[in-house]
Amino acid sequence: TAPQTVLGLETSCDETAAAVVRRHADGRAEVLSSVVGSQIAAHAPFGGVVPEIAARAHVESIEAIAEAALKEAGLGYGDLTGVAATAGPGLVGGVMVGLSFGKAVALARDLPLVAVNHLEGHAVSARLGADLPYPFLLLLVSGGHCQLLEVAGIGACRRLGSTIDDAAGEAFDKIAKAMGLPYPGGPELERLAEGGDPTAFELPRMLLGRKDCDFSFSGLKTAAARLAEGVTHEADRRNLAAAVQEAIAGQLAEKSERAMKAYAQAHADAGLRFVVAGGVAANRTVRARLEAVAQKNGFSFAAPPMAYCTDNAAMIALAGAERLAAGISDPLDAVARPRWPL
Ligand code: KG4
Ligand code: ZN
Repeated sequence: TAPQTVLGLETSCDETAAAVVRRHADGRAEVLSSVVGSQIAAHAPFGGVVPEIAARAHVESIEAIAEAALKEAGLGYGDLTGVAATAGPGLVGGVMVGLSFGKAVALARDLPLVAVNHLEGHAVSARLGADLPYPFLLLLVSGGHCQLLEVAGIGACRRLGSTIDDAAGEAFDKIAKAMGLPYPGGPELERLAEGGDPTAFELPRMLLGRKDCDFSFSGLKTAAARLAEGVTHEADRRNLAAAVQEAIAGQLAEKSERAMKAYAQAHADAGLRFVVAGGVAANRTVRARLEAVAQKNGFSFAAPPMAYCTDNAAMIALAGAERLAAGISDPLDAVARPRWPL
């Protein structure tokens, strides 16, 4: 297949992002640029993402960010072979901004459009700049999602398990908020947990007895929030943060191991690869626990570089490029979807 040079656009939550990725004829992916404009400052006073503020901020910055990505890549719109925009799932006001901008570029430059599922973007993110062949077992853990997937190729995901209540990142964020940490709480909680003693607090370990690959974090969230009320000393706060982090990492590792055992039976001859992606993959304790479990079960371990764990447009551009290489594109009336399971 011919090389693809794709502009990716990501506006489904609180980052306005654009990137240019080149997929070479041999399938190798090269990130030519990746620009992420964070809206953290705009949402921080509210302790979380405000959809209306997010949509307006995307409108204000999408064009400048797309142009910055092209400039950083040393290219113009005329050098592109396609445009890929997140079409969901996410905050629909924001999704519409990036998708509409992508449609405008596609129309004006007569380029194919790919309406990318944000989750598929996370699913391919570990292939950015690394040699990771299909198929692989994926733990996708972000602020909105927590699922185990068998990824056989682009557009070929099968779900093995998912959360029955909160996503892991959501649990990090809500517990951090209950502990008085600023938004976004995940990375703040990781920082606070450094040097803390995770055994100092006992927290419920949800669903560990169940034989499936589903997750649950609501019990942990309630228990941790209640404990947080009585904790004031800095050392206790550190210990509680460490215990929370350990409980989340432990559940992710336990369910991943269960999925590995099932996956290994079906895929032994294709090679056993385990991948973690999404914002929570940036957490070092989570990564370490997962890597240990992968090693123990004979799986190789991969995670995207930190910059491609949290939301970015390089992963959207790569998903788009892989779809274009497979002959798949979308009509210009593709719709924004607030919900869109993989
Ligand atoms: O993938 P992402 O940027 O957005 C979604 O698609 O949801 O993930 C954001 C989530 C947030 O919940 C954030 O708190 C969490 O990832 N996160 C972390 C860390 N960095 C980001 N959670 C724990 N530790 C971190 N270092
Ligand atoms: Zn995401």
